[in-house]
Amino acid sequence: MHLPDLSIAKERGKKENKYITLNENYQKVFTGQKYFLRTYGCQMNVHDSEAIRSYLEVLGYSPAEDINDANIVVLNTCAIRENAKDKVVGFLGKCKYLKKMKDNFKIVLAGCMCEQPDFIKEVQTKYNYVDIVIGTHNIHDLPKLLLQDLDTQKIEVYSNSDEVIEGIKYKRDSEITAWVNIQLGCDKFCTYCIVPYTRGRERSRKKESIIEEVKHLVNHGYKEVALLGQNVNAYGKDINEKFSDLLEGVAKTGIERVRFVTSHPWNFTDEMIDVISKYPNIMPYIHLPIQSGSDKILKKMNRRYTKEEYLELFSKMKERIPNVAITTDIIVGFPGETEEDFEETLDIVNKCQFDGAYTFVFSPRIGTPASLMKDDTPINIKEERLHRLNELVNKYSKLNNQKLLNKVVEVLVLGVSEKDNNKVYGYTDTMKLVNIKGSKEIIGSIIKVKITDAKSFSLDGEYIK
Ligand code: 5AD
Ligand code: SF4
Repeated sequence: MHLPDLSIAKERGKKENKYITLNENYQKVFTGQKYFLRTYGCQMNVHDSEAIRSYLEVLGYSPAEDINDANIVVLNTCAIRENAKDKVVGFLGKCKYLKKMKDNFKIVLAGCMCEQPDFIKEVQTKYNYVDIVIGTHNIHDLPKLLLQDLDTQKIEVYSNSDEVIEGIKYKRDSEITAWVNIQLGCDKFCTYCIVPYTRGRERSRKKESIIEEVKHLVNHGYKEVALLGQNVNAYGKDINEKFSDLLEGVAKTGIERVRFVTSHPWNFTDEMIDVISKYPNIMPYIHLPIQSGSDKILKKMNRRYTKEEYLELFSKMKERIPNVAITTDIIVGFPGETEEDFEETLDIVNKCQFDGAYTFVFSPRIGTPASLMKDDTPINIKEERLHRLNELVNKYSKLNNQKLLNKVVEVLVLGVSEKDNNKVYGYTDTMKLVNIKGSKEIIGSIIKVKITDAKSFSLDGEYIK
């Protein structure tokens, strides 16, 4: 048993990264058995689930469409807000029932919730029917644990690892667009955020390994890579590399589209802006969380920039990167946020007119400084602020989308539309979702599309042959 320890996350020190290359072979001992994998949370978790799936399939498991047909269920959990936890706990109830009904049914918990000591205590008591718990640093231990005798609960969670694991095999969701981890963890310690504790200190992968991975993807027909990091543009600070050089290297592999998420305003340099504007295959799309428009709240959040500094960076990007789309994240109801502070947030939304924004009500996370701050704004006021903010955000998303009406844009087609079988869907270079009348043959191509309708969250278009 190895338990998580939030306090270790604070001991940042100057430890060197340990690069470990896996080279493991497993036998297909579970052939004929099925797995059901459910993922909660961010892109990092989505990509981690691609590793989990690969490990399960290497051991012989095949995917089950329906959880009732599964022999094993894996929940890759998210800890970012309380409602993410509620969903996992709700689903665990269903798993408990299945375990009672079926012989030899296994339950595995992975992901960020498993890095929280308080949750682990609950797993040991309330959810003691869970078979295996692994953390975010040791997904590669899953096969070894599955091959052990599971008479007793196995909890193997490590905190703040210095390791950078290479050689993880991914069973990717798409054959067209691929997530590529470039950096793990976060050293920013925004006061509301659990990520530095659940994902450990900032560690960058070696540039050569990343470029090799992208070249491999190009050779296998991938059209797009999305470089992933909690603070993607802080890439390289720990190993004397620069994100701008990495971006350039990735663009030169010949991949048709390069994206990257998520950027922190504090780390965004002019060199990065130059590289993005220089290479046509680096997409003009930047997700740049602002979190609040009030300097007082930004300071309490430990965001390291002021409203003015954000606006300066925003304008620079708009000036220098042709046709760039910028989206953001915003939290309302942070402890101490007054109506005036909230109005500063509305003001920055009016000034930036974002292409889109993910908006959240502050959710206190155990172990973070903000969870201890005095918070006397009633929840109904917070929700009302969220509602007002969303109305404004949606207005600008729609206005930005409407600017594309009757224009011809390039779309990378990713699949058949879920709502209508006669349509396919894809994304513009600026990451706008487009539904297009057309058949499956165009999936995987970058096509020209004339935009015929614009809503807040999507566009409709016609394929121009
Ligand atoms: N409460 C509400 N929103 C949060 N986020 C991160 N932590 C919290 C929290 N405790 C939001 C931030 C971040 C996004 C991924 O989630 O806006 O950018
Ligand atoms: Fe969390 Fe801030 Fe790090 Fe983003 S930059 S992961 S919000 S601590």
